[in-house]
Amino acid sequence: MKFPSHISLSQETREELIELLNTCLATAIDLHWQVKQAHWNVRGRQFISRHELFDTVADHVRKHADEFAERAGALGGYAEGTIRLAARNSELDEYDLKAISGEEHVRALVDRVSTYAASIRQGIHRGEKLDDPVTVDLFTRILGEIEQDLWFLESHLYGSPQASRTASTSVEVPEGLPPV
Ligand SMILES: [Fe+2]
Repeated sequence: MKFPSHISLSQETREELIELLNTCLATAIDLHWQVKQAHWNVRGRQFISRHELFDTVADHVRKHADEFAERAGALGGYAEGTIRLAARNSELDEYDLKAISGEEHVRALVDRVSTYAASIRQGIHRGEKLDDPVTVDLFTRILGEIEQDLWFLESHLYGSPQASRTASTSVEVPEGLPPV
């Protein structure tokens, strides 16, 4: 705990929430720059649509980082948001630096964005256990946005052979629709 806070939660609860928020902050900062890496380096078919989609996702994630940091601050915490702190605390693997085609970048981003979304979903459960509806609401809003971005990204893989193998384990296609 770094700063005073008059929010009516115990110090232990606030400390746990701040740690949770700082992990999400680190992951969001890492993800933001990974998505930018894709935005700058993507080539090939559908270049513009993917270049622009990646920038939209990066903008969303950059705003998430700001929201995590400011909630940590409101709870009396110190926001750990430098690049070096983010690299140390992020839950993501390094970006796929060999990715070139749109599909390779989309695949790498689906992997990282889904890890980020899963982490935020866990944050909602943790926030509920700690009885802090404000942090839960923040996580819930952010999860809704990032899961929509995940849908936009993974829709670019629809029909690709590798996507079929992945999807067949988890997606049931309704009758009358083409197989994924
Ligand atoms: Fe740009």
